[in-house]
Amino acid sequence: MRILFITHSFNSLTQRLFCELTEQGHEVSIEFDIADSVTEEAVALFKPDLILAPFLKRAIPEAIWSRHRCLIVHPGIVGDRGPSALDWAIRNGVGEWGVTVLQAEAEMDAGPVWASATFPMRAARKASIYRNEVTEAAVRVVNATVARQNDPNFKPERVPGQAHALMTQTDRRIDWLTESSATVLAKLNAADGFPGVADELFGQPCHLFDAWPEATLKGEPGQLIGRRETAILRATADGAVWIGHVKPAGGIKLPATLACPAAGELPELPLAGWWKSPTATWQDIAYEEAGGVGFLSFEFYNGAMSTAQCQRLTAAFNWATTQPTKVIVLRGGSDFWSNGIHLNTIEAAESPADESLANINAIDDLAEAILRCETQLTVAAVGGNAGAGGCFLARAADFVWARDGVMLNPHYKNMGNLYGSEFWTYLLPPRVGDEGAKAIMRHRLPMTAPEAVKLGFYDACLPGPGFAVDVARRAAELAAAPDIAERLAAKRAKRQADEAAKPLAAYRAEELTEMRRNFYGFDPSYHVARYHFVSRSAHSWTPRHLARHRDLDWKIPA
Ligand code: COA
Repeated sequence: MRILFITHSFNSLTQRLFCELTEQGHEVSIEFDIADSVTEEAVALFKPDLILAPFLKRAIPEAIWSRHRCLIVHPGIVGDRGPSALDWAIRNGVGEWGVTVLQAEAEMDAGPVWASATFPMRAARKASIYRNEVTEAAVRVVNATVARQNDPNFKPERVPGQAHALMTQTDRRIDWLTESSATVLAKLNAADGFPGVADELFGQPCHLFDAWPEATLKGEPGQLIGRRETAILRATADGAVWIGHVKPAGGIKLPATLACPAAGELPELPLAGWWKSPTATWQDIAYEEAGGVGFLSFEFYNGAMSTAQCQRLTAAFNWATTQPTKVIVLRGGSDFWSNGIHLNTIEAAESPADESLANINAIDDLAEAILRCETQLTVAAVGGNAGAGGCFLARAADFVWARDGVMLNPHYKNMGNLYGSEFWTYLLPPRVGDEGAKAIMRHRLPMTAPEAVKLGFYDACLPGPGFAVDVARRAAELAAAPDIAERLAAKRAKRQADEAAKPLAAYRAEELTEMRRNFYGFDPSYHVARYHFVSRSAHSWTPRHLARHRDLDWKIPA
């Protein structure tokens, strides 16, 4: 089938559906929902068999839904209608939620239902539920919907519904003096990553994000108790909650202490070392050991890795190599493994060009530490999505095991034609060949884990359910294998031979020469692209690699 996606953006859910349907042999093209006339033009050009709206913020125009079958992916259970569907589900503490595909009609989300699926709810942020449970359910529901298009016996059913209102900032408001930590966390989770909860810090209006529970520290309700690295701890009626990210009014989302310089006056509440805290608290880098394996998690918000985070993670990794283990597993965070350098902290810097260079050097230092590790085998367990430099950073490990279902975007070009670093020029060609490396770097589209393995870019794709357990078992087997000493010796010999052929420093210098051109050169594309990315600017056109119906040589297949 020819399937046209009309979508607000090419977000991770849309990317996943694009990959799934393309893999099944459907021809998928994408048009961003910019203006009714643009959508009508796309429909006229592509002549789709089906129009699917995986992520829409407004209604499809009647001129389209009245003439073409338009199906909406709604992140709610059957009968749920209206905006803020997930926000209300989290706030109301429902035990089960779901995804429904319904046909577009005049009344929003009220059309006949084509398919639906449910999942148990988890205490987590809205964006995390969306990237995990909602995305998995959406794949099932869209597959069922597409299969039903040619089933003459299937009739979509109308169901009675309950419309809810848009959740406003008044609904989201936190009363730090009277509300418990559980309530505060639920309110912040329901608003993360968008729109956040409107509040005030140090007398300045802002939106709060990235909440973490705190089990032991307490203060006077409402009091700002202290800070740890980039997070701020605030007392609730019965405990305290950490705030990791803040968006000042009119600004961009930033690590809390960067967004609020006055937080520097708060007392520092450090953790001792890298070991995972036994009680709930803010800890972005955490180390655990089991079965001769060290596990290093880095829960960086949105997978973005600032200069300071890269430096701290390098220190943690170097320390982990001194532990009596044979294998180190780099776990990344629960939603993202890594999305490369931190574009928001770069944007906020006095000189974004200097900060870009500092950040890329810091992430390269981390990649180099992983590459030069002689005492352990290293595994990147990519259980969350990865993008740009994050995909190549994972490849610095000896093994990359990815969870089936993660979305990978191993290319830099979408960020203003960045050349990229993280030793990709050293890491990619031996695995995928020179032409394969060029193709990956040119390819601006997302990739699934099975595709990455098929290309030789990653080593294994493990089933989604039980991924963490599977990784731990495989890593423990690796550590206990009788030939572990020989494997480590072979790894050292390979690194020495590679270093003799061409030092890592040479690869790095060449990549950074190109990157300096991106940061300081005549062409401002990277700075422009980064500005629009961090400001979440609305799209004004659909990139040609997505809107295939706009290719000059595109023709409806005979
Ligand atoms: N720096 C800062 N923030 C980043 C980031 C980065 N490198 N990568 C992603 N984010 C943020 C986004 O701004 C967004 O923020 P929000 O919470 O305000 O919505 C959030 O992470 C989720 O990103 P989004 O683009 O909505 O997620 P996605 O899963 O749909 O897309 C990517 C994933 C990787 C394709 C996309 O985020 C991307 O292109 N990131 C930039 C990667 C990059 O160029 N890195 C620099 C070069 S190494």
